[in-house]
Amino acid sequence: MSEMKVLIVDDEVEFAAALAERLELRDIVAETVNNGKDAMSTILVRPPDVVILDLKMPDLSGLEVLHGIKAHDPSIEVIMLTGHGDMDSAIESLKLGASDFINKPVRFEALLLALERAKQKIAMGCQLKDYTKNLEQKIEERTLELRQTQEELMASERLATIGETVAGLAHYIKNILTGLRGGMYMVDVGLTKEKPRMQQDGWGMVRRNIEKVSCLVLDLLKYSKERMPEPTVCSPNRIVLEGVELMREKAGQHGVKLCTDLDPNLEEAFLDQDGINDVLLNLISNAIDACLYDTNTAKEWEVKVKTRLKGDAGSGEVILFQVIDNGAGMTDEVKAKLFSRFFSTKAGCGTGLGLLITQKIVQEQGGEVSFESEVGQGTTFSVRFNRYMHMS
Ligand SMILES: Nc1ncnc2c1ncn2[C@@H]1O[C@H](COP(=O)(O)OP(=O)(O)OP(=O)(O)O)[C@@H](O)[C@H]1O
Ligand SMILES: [Mg+2]
Repeated sequence: MSEMKVLIVDDEVEFAAALAERLELRDIVAETVNNGKDAMSTILVRPPDVVILDLKMPDLSGLEVLHGIKAHDPSIEVIMLTGHGDMDSAIESLKLGASDFINKPVRFEALLLALERAKQKIAMGCQLKDYTKNLEQKIEERTLELRQTQEELMASERLATIGETVAGLAHYIKNILTGLRGGMYMVDVGLTKEKPRMQQDGWGMVRRNIEKVSCLVLDLLKYSKERMPEPTVCSPNRIVLEGVELMREKAGQHGVKLCTDLDPNLEEAFLDQDGINDVLLNLISNAIDACLYDTNTAKEWEVKVKTRLKGDAGSGEVILFQVIDNGAGMTDEVKAKLFSRFFSTKAGCGTGLGLLITQKIVQEQGGEVSFESEVGQGTTFSVRFNRYMHMS
């Protein structure tokens, strides 16, 4: 603070003038007024840094003026001049925000000390204000920087996701094309060399690969589309039995025994049948594949689909679906990548979307999916749903 401006408010005109003079000698700009009203109007037009205010004045009392000053601008420091026996009012003035009080008759040294303290207080207030302003600005800058970084990150993540998806798709489609070309070649050769067997095999390859494209398109649609679950009252055990029937042919082809272990107490639930059907078909299909990829041919491969009702009506009933196989099991590396897009160990025979779709459907219904697996021993996939699905 360069130059301190002081306003002296005292009804003793001569005292006020003399005090002002002494202060001016100390390079302090001092103005005097002799009543509360003039004090308030001066403060409005020429706000001082410090007011030296007499407590006892005829019209407005010192306390009233103090109140007015603090209400107008709390940063103006006020030093009260009090008489002997004004202790109560002096304390009251401190409560109202005065920075000091000095007894009359005023000892000039004491007043200078009080002014010095007020000056320091003002300087600290200014510093604090600057600091707060600085801090606010810094926070704003950092927030903006953070937002920009976040946006950049999201953009690059999006690009990476698109890149990954395209790469995965391209790879899978390339495999299908190779199969199609192989099939077409065999059909061509079969036709020109009149080899019906070759024609037949070639045509079989073409059909299988067209089937793969159509599965891929369906999977992509299921994976990318938001789907609202449509819960109805249904029998979870029946959904399992229907799913198992659909997979029986595939299991039979590979010598895998497909069986069920259903909870007889699980009569009805409120669930999305189509969604659960998809989930079970994906899990059973994977379980049969796991047997197919198992190198231990001495095993009797089995895939079991189990249902259980857990919990009780009070704490919430949960339906547990499990698909248990004694196939090849999974290494830690496979476990870590299980739910990644296009991750498949089935060398072009799987899209690697099955478990992702499974996870999406389960989550859409507020359920949970988990698994346990051991290499050479087999895998258990567990899916849990609330018996009565809540629609949000
Ligand atoms: N029961 C299981 N036992 C062993 N490995 C499994 C099992 N289920 C899934 N996996 C592994 O997880 C991978 C990903 O499974 P996911 O169902 O997502 O794809 P996929 O079966 O390869 O292809 P598709 O999209 O046609 O289902 C599989 O390739 C396989 O390696
Ligand atoms: Mg699968």
